[in-house]
Amino acid sequence: MIKAIRGVKDILPSEARAWQYVEAISRKLLEDYGFSELRTPIFEDTALFIRSIGEETDIVSKEMYTFPDRKGHSLTLRPEGTASVVRAFVEHKLYAQGPYQKLYYQGPMFRYERPQAGRSRQFHQIGAEVFGLAEPDIDAEMLILLNDLFSKLGLVDVNILLNSVGCPERCRPRYKRLLQEFLRQNFASLCLDCQQRCEKNPLRVMDCKNESCQSVLAQAPVILEYLCPDCLRHHQEVERLLKVADIPYRINHRLVRGLDYYTRTAFEVTASGLGAQNAIAGGGRYDRLVEDFGGPPTPAIGFALGMERVILALAGQASMPKPRPLIYLAALGQAARQEAFLLIRTLRQKGLRAIMNYQDRSLKTLLKQADQMGASLTIILGENELASRRLLLRDMVRSTQEEIALDGDNIASLLEAKILA
Ligand code: HAM
Repeated sequence: MIKAIRGVKDILPSEARAWQYVEAISRKLLEDYGFSELRTPIFEDTALFIRSIGEETDIVSKEMYTFPDRKGHSLTLRPEGTASVVRAFVEHKLYAQGPYQKLYYQGPMFRYERPQAGRSRQFHQIGAEVFGLAEPDIDAEMLILLNDLFSKLGLVDVNILLNSVGCPERCRPRYKRLLQEFLRQNFASLCLDCQQRCEKNPLRVMDCKNESCQSVLAQAPVILEYLCPDCLRHHQEVERLLKVADIPYRINHRLVRGLDYYTRTAFEVTASGLGAQNAIAGGGRYDRLVEDFGGPPTPAIGFALGMERVILALAGQASMPKPRPLIYLAALGQAARQEAFLLIRTLRQKGLRAIMNYQDRSLKTLLKQADQMGASLTIILGENELASRRLLLRDMVRSTQEEIALDGDNIASLLEAKILA
């Protein structure tokens, strides 16, 4: 038997409702905040990801699904959405279409990571990116948006973690050198990976989960103390606005993010009860990326949330809305089935959710099937009902029955009233 690939999951009908719920609420809120959807391809030129995410990152060095096409071009299944959005933004000159742009996207991303709870090789993100605004107001707005989104979804037990990674011109190189010196002094206590990171990309050491590295890092210099005056002012204003808007957050000095394009504001949102993979969203500012890809200098900021993790967190914290009631038409005999076939169309045209039996079965079997399929109301239509033009309407929850006239419009309004009651 051929099975799904390791680290890749089917979303079964019993789970899809939660997905639709998160997608619908996110989409509505993003649109309310002025975002428009952008859909980009699932695969891109490999160079796009190497140049944006960074060669030394885990994503690029170990996790990409990269393959040559038939002509030998190197293609990669997108490991994240920002790079593609930036590419599309530059390619289609979206910067010419207004003072700033707010774009959102959703869909599958691919990373060859070790699968575990909350971590898969095909996972799904909903992301949002804003181009053309350098002001700290938009940084704060992105966090307010995330805060509003999680509270709308019913996720209350979440933490917003905030940091600044400074700028590549002034504060970051200085901080990197300082950190590197500190790490060299503690070289022997670092894990093998971090000993290598120390030379190539010392900021990456911050993410290490190794206990020995963690205890070294507890003493490490913190970047917020080394920000240049402009980056510090920006960061302080983001904090001030979050306080004004009453958004709870925490500063996390170790938050450096796993992608190299970030400048200044960096953030993550974690949820309780998810174990090690508890980041449900992450993002930050990337003020140089558009220019790096040939666009005009354009400050930008964005985030992406991980659908799988949000849904896992929801299962532990919030109750999903119930599906719309289902009506089952149980028709007994050929003539009744024909009548039901037409009646069900009227019900659906009136916006009701209805199914019927397509095979001849006994009433007992049909009622059992209605129950099994989750119907809350069943309409019974047999030879007698057809002759008298009166149907039986059965409430599946209360096990009560009543007679109603066989008239599509009348039935529809009666059912609607019952459903609303
Ligand atoms: P990221 O932190 O790599 O950022 O991913 C964002 C979210 O995607 C994570 O917080 C997590 O919820 C989810 N995620 C990541 N990897 C996996 C996985 N293997 N399995 C399940 N969920 C996962 C980005 O991707 C940036 N593009 C975000 C961004 C947008 N920054 C600026 N704009």
